[in-house]
Amino acid sequence: MEPLIIGQISDLHVSTEGKVSYGVVDAGAALRRCVESIMALERWPDLLLVTGDLVEGGLREEYQHLRALLAPLPMPWYVIPGNHDDRTVMRDCFRDHGYLHQWGPFAQYAIDEWPLRIIALDTVIPGEPGGRLCEERLSWLDRTLACEPSKPTLVMMHHPPFSTGMDHMDGMGLESPEKLAAILGRHAQVQCILCGHVHRPIEARFAGIPASICPSPSHQVALDLDPGAPARLTLEPPAYRLHLWTPASGLVSHTVYIGAYPGPYPFD
Ligand SMILES: [Fe+2]
Ligand SMILES: [Fe+2]
Repeated sequence: MEPLIIGQISDLHVSTEGKVSYGVVDAGAALRRCVESIMALERWPDLLLVTGDLVEGGLREEYQHLRALLAPLPMPWYVIPGNHDDRTVMRDCFRDHGYLHQWGPFAQYAIDEWPLRIIALDTVIPGEPGGRLCEERLSWLDRTLACEPSKPTLVMMHHPPFSTGMDHMDGMGLESPEKLAAILGRHAQVQCILCGHVHRPIEARFAGIPASICPSPSHQVALDLDPGAPARLTLEPPAYRLHLWTPASGLVSHTVYIGAYPGPYPFD
């Protein structure tokens, strides 16, 4: 069976056209290179998940710029908000993305049209960098998982529910992750959790489920495991992920680096 190929782009942080953030980051140009990289793949992903921090400041013009940059992609793509996003402005700029409007209060939704069911969570606390799944959002998740107990399911969310060892990022992590763990523990069909927010490729287990963080196509967070290390960004190679899914193997995840590197060369 051909695998389902799920692309994941996270932490795009798009600003208005040509604007440079933090003195060194042109996130729009970076996303353009990411889209070119995806279009150049031998086999395109069947769908793309865009796991938040879509834009830098939650502005309407930034979402319009983001949409223009993603427009060349021929496959369906699904967005969730991150802490840099404005949920209301985002949903208004994506009025044609019906899935974003499945539920009134939050941008949480289920996509049932693929062999792997996709459940998207909205961890945003307006005006704050950290993430939250309140009782309302958790109970939606519990109900939504209960509807399809035997279909393999992927959960995506911006804020990872586990600590990364990078203190300043963990300080803006998800509140009360044990509440999420308790719900996921009741639904054995959840096979993986895909996250963003930390701008690095990171793997973990959460509630016994493989969980990962996707690097950014723009800028990465500098790796520093010293407690009290300052928050800094780095221009390490930008990247996105390709997740291959089959019923037999589950999810197999690749990291794709964006840019021109020497090679490929033959092994013989
Ligand atoms: Fe981010
Ligand atoms: Fe974030």
